[in-house]
Amino acid sequence: MSRQTPDYGLDAGLAVYAMFILGFAGVIGGFVLAHWHARHAVDYAIQIFGFCCLILASLMFASSRVGKFHARDRLLARLKLRGDEAVLDVGCGHGLLLIAAAKLLPRGHAVGIDLWSQLHQYDNSREATLRNAELEGVAQRVRVHDGDMRKLPFADRSFDATVAHFAIHNVRDAEGRREAIREIVRTLNPGGQVAISDLHGADLYADELRKSNMIDVEISGLSFWTFPPARTVTARKPSQPA
Ligand SMILES: C[S@@+](CC[C@H](N)C(=O)[O-])C[C@H]1O[C@@H](n2cnc3c(N)ncnc32)[C@H](O)[C@@H]1O
Repeated sequence: MSRQTPDYGLDAGLAVYAMFILGFAGVIGGFVLAHWHARHAVDYAIQIFGFCCLILASLMFASSRVGKFHARDRLLARLKLRGDEAVLDVGCGHGLLLIAAAKLLPRGHAVGIDLWSQLHQYDNSREATLRNAELEGVAQRVRVHDGDMRKLPFADRSFDATVAHFAIHNVRDAEGRREAIREIVRTLNPGGQVAISDLHGADLYADELRKSNMIDVEISGLSFWTFPPARTVTARKPSQPA
């Protein structure tokens, strides 16, 4: 039977499941060993390690299942969309921001791009994202592209706003992350806005946005809706070229 409710994916899902397994194994194994060995310090260390894994895994699970929806709404609220814009979601995954943006765009549309890494989000695919858009009733206003954020397959000045949530940090090297920012600026219309939330890298994003002549570049305080907590970088492209 096909799924009837949208699923926005478990971030770093394989790591979360591995930590749950390690955590339970550590707690139960440490408990059994402590009784066997007449309470050896190593057995307690194994138990503590297990508890830490369980706490981390639970925080990451809660972030994907609850917290990131609050983070999404706060990020989109910053854009103050009119409803007729073209919005790009970079590293859209299952469509968390893409689909919520499409709901705010009765006369516009939202475009997502991703290379569908299974490591970064469990069960990640363009089909899963399009299914979510269908289930949320916005499939007509959503398009999804396969591609790399360092080389966006879009013409200059294609979008009125671009968002990215927990996506750009996945590019390993700093120069690659800077390339992604330059691509975001290139494909943005004059007067267009950017909002990027990520668990690290805010200073680098802000620096590259300023170097790319973006204005009103700001970094928010830490938000604890997600785990790890995140900062949001916002900026605007000047209406007239610099
Ligand atoms: C942690 S997930 C976040 C997905 C979504 N933005 C969300 O918040 O639910 C990171 C996403 O970035 C994508 N990604 C990683 N590197 C990418 C790249 N170089 N170009 C495009 N997408 C990328 C992954 O495939 C994954 O879908």
